[in-house]
Amino acid sequence: MNSVYYNTDINDDLRRERLFEGQLFVGAARESTSALCALARDMCEEAFAPYDPQEAQHHMPVEDYVAILAELKPKFIHHPRCKEIIPGILADCGCDLEKTYFDAPRLRTVTSDGYLTAGLGYPFKPHRDTWYSPPMCQINWWLPVHPIESENAMAFHMHYWDRPIENSSHEFNYQEWNLTGRKQAPKLVKQDTRRQSEATEPLQLDPELRIVTEPGGLTIFSAAHLHSTVPNTTERTRISIDFRTVHMDDLVENRGAPNLDSNCTETTIGDYLRGSDLSHVPEEIAEMYENIAAVGG
Ligand SMILES: [Fe+2]
Repeated sequence: MNSVYYNTDINDDLRRERLFEGQLFVGAARESTSALCALARDMCEEAFAPYDPQEAQHHMPVEDYVAILAELKPKFIHHPRCKEIIPGILADCGCDLEKTYFDAPRLRTVTSDGYLTAGLGYPFKPHRDTWYSPPMCQINWWLPVHPIESENAMAFHMHYWDRPIENSSHEFNYQEWNLTGRKQAPKLVKQDTRRQSEATEPLQLDPELRIVTEPGGLTIFSAAHLHSTVPNTTERTRISIDFRTVHMDDLVENRGAPNLDSNCTETTIGDYLRGSDLSHVPEEIAEMYENIAAVGG
């Protein structure tokens, strides 16, 4: 059975244990999460001025919209403030910054009513993040920048937590994706032709769970959960932030969610930075995860 823990004051070791059992953790906005949202909001407003970033899709050809995203998204990902704010969020949530590593936050834009469905606005089909080469102990942190509704939220397909799915993750190589797939994104406007890691069998998506939080409200979940972008019918673009963490003890002990069906190659291990000093995962630990299909669990 999967549960949603709301605003629980639970220590991080126990929380990770529960996350690896498939539980979700949801928390109200805090000063630190609101600061990250404010940074994203300000950058979006500046990029789309004079339009409201949630409405801009109605005021410009999609090619112009993509050109703005192509500049805005990397600017946010690499913004030095993110590397200050995220450790603050982790500390707020009880993570040990000496042992918790995080990756660069992503800024996601999901336009409504099929305006942009490729490249930089690709609405992710149901997937597990573990089909994209992370260690099985990876935890995902997600927060909306503006108010959301059920119609532009993210959906979890909880009953696949313990059910394997036929998928194409064996064709996914993280290094190749970095060299090719990621670079193609800004060029894809009408159609997304990149080979994504995806289910290759029909999925039973209902019942699904959609979590609607205030801006800056956190949803924390195991990278092994099947989740998807809800088709946005709100006429407003949904803008959200997500980042991922791994904990050194889990890496060393090879703990994590059960691996039911991930067979990708290469690893995201080089992407994470330690909360305390932004150092990379030490080489001897990283090596355990290199060139091994979906280690852990
Ligand atoms: Fe995902």
